Amino acid sequence: MTAEKQKQEPWWKQAVIYQIYPKSFQDTNGDGVGDLRGIIKRLDYLQDLGIDAIWLCPVYKSPGVDNGYDIADYEAIDPQYGTMADMEELISEAKKRGIRIVMDLVVNHTSDQHPWFIEARKNPSSPEHDYYVWADKANELKSAFSGSAWEYDGQVGQYYLHLFAKEQPDLNWKNPALRQKVYDLMNFWIDKGIGGFRMDVIELIGKVPEEDITANGPKLHDYLQEMHRETFGGRDFLTVGETWGATLDNAPLYSDPDRKELSMVFQFEFTELDKQAGKEKWDTKPLDYGDLKNVLAKWQKLDFNHSWNSLFWNNHDLPRIVSRFGNDQQYRERSAKMLALLLHGLRGTPYIYQGEEIGMTNCPVSAIDEVEDIEARRMYQERLAEGWKKEDLIKAINARGRDNARTPMQWDASASAGFTSGRPWLAVNPNCQEINVKNALNDQDSIYYFYKKLIALRHQERILTDGSFELLDTADAVMAYHRENAEDKWLVVCNLTGEEQEVFLPDKVKEVLLANGPVPEDLSAAVLPAYVAFLCRVKK
Ligand code: GLC
Ligand code: CA
Repeated sequence: MTAEKQKQEPWWKQAVIYQIYPKSFQDTNGDGVGDLRGIIKRLDYLQDLGIDAIWLCPVYKSPGVDNGYDIADYEAIDPQYGTMADMEELISEAKKRGIRIVMDLVVNHTSDQHPWFIEARKNPSSPEHDYYVWADKANELKSAFSGSAWEYDGQVGQYYLHLFAKEQPDLNWKNPALRQKVYDLMNFWIDKGIGGFRMDVIELIGKVPEEDITANGPKLHDYLQEMHRETFGGRDFLTVGETWGATLDNAPLYSDPDRKELSMVFQFEFTELDKQAGKEKWDTKPLDYGDLKNVLAKWQKLDFNHSWNSLFWNNHDLPRIVSRFGNDQQYRERSAKMLALLLHGLRGTPYIYQGEEIGMTNCPVSAIDEVEDIEARRMYQERLAEGWKKEDLIKAINARGRDNARTPMQWDASASAGFTSGRPWLAVNPNCQEINVKNALNDQDSIYYFYKKLIALRHQERILTDGSFELLDTADAVMAYHRENAEDKWLVVCNLTGEEQEVFLPDKVKEVLLANGPVPEDLSAAVLPAYVAFLCRVKK
């Protein structure tokens, strides 16, 4: 790459983003709920880790039916998180540390408490009525949170669409006035100096419910292009779309810079791999390592000059990766590092979810009253009525439930893990005794420092951003790949399993850059201990 081209590359190609779920990050006033001042307090920690931006889950005014993904006022901060002054301080304090704030943009739907929806219901001839999606008859569409996607409103005498909870009515993007309102609220935040938007279920905004079309509707990309023109276009800004239906074919539609839509997509293909085909996320099956390798390698085939992908294992909707694809008992540290290297060695922009950098695990419950998440609770009620056994449903929730990711951040070994001086809104994982930031910072060999090195490498070494990818031929239980650019060649080798594995690789190691265990001297015939992974510079 020429020096000229390098200068023009957007910052987010070499960046690492850290996701914060504010409700569970750090409480400062003892009410058991994380808050903006708590994030400000922990900025030095994040600066030390080395991240470039924070994706902040919603902090807007909200009744909290779906923990903030049901917004009642896009231009106000929910009092449980603080004030607009706190938010402005967070943006400027983060900036001082070289950290940008990426806000969560939830504009497929609002809360049913949003003044637009209140007016839409009260007054069917108001302009706001058409900001939402109404129908005289309900069709087959289902809500992602169980049951019909249609709710009858007696006052209006019509059904409204809610692809999520009934308290989350869907917005009608066909209405140009509504679209302008959305662009206005986006500009409100852009003017406050934020660095980007993560766009919640953005693939749904082009929906045509009367034809049963939800994701990838015919107008989706027109809307995104219009949004780009009306808001962040021409700015130094990161935009990432939550696109469950992304494919190698449509990812460039979102992310080709020439199309002027988004910077990149989140695609979720790996989350399908330990799920039974055609069933719901609760219906699990064991992971086939070959499938995992195929999916990771497949997404490296994207034409990165005309599209961009993100790299992530976790978010606030997914179970913890060390419990899911690693081993959260005997090999917790080693498997967490292996999974980190496996992902961060790839091409794309990495995202780290709070607590991932210290190897936080899933948090099992024994009964439904310990569960806060609306999705799991609705599934439980629905399946119980269908005759499922309680134990099986709890087992499914422990494997896949969203609360696994939402237990409070584990800062230290004190009663509430240093998260709150009060009673936490969701129980702290008892393993905070051992797994916490304080311990991680005191151990030079911890998962934390492994992530820190990966982040530093991403900043220092262009090969991670621009190098080509080649999957090497190994048994399914091992994933090995090359990254290569004009100057350099790297090798990543990961034993994906808890058993020893043999590898036969052609490379000559020049320098070991990072490893979670012993690196074999001779790669031409080597045995890798359980979950061992390493990254090295090899002879070109
Ligand atoms: C996205 C969010 C999830 C939320 C849903 C509805 O998938 O990540 O947390 O429940 O959208 O807004
Ligand atoms: Ca608080």
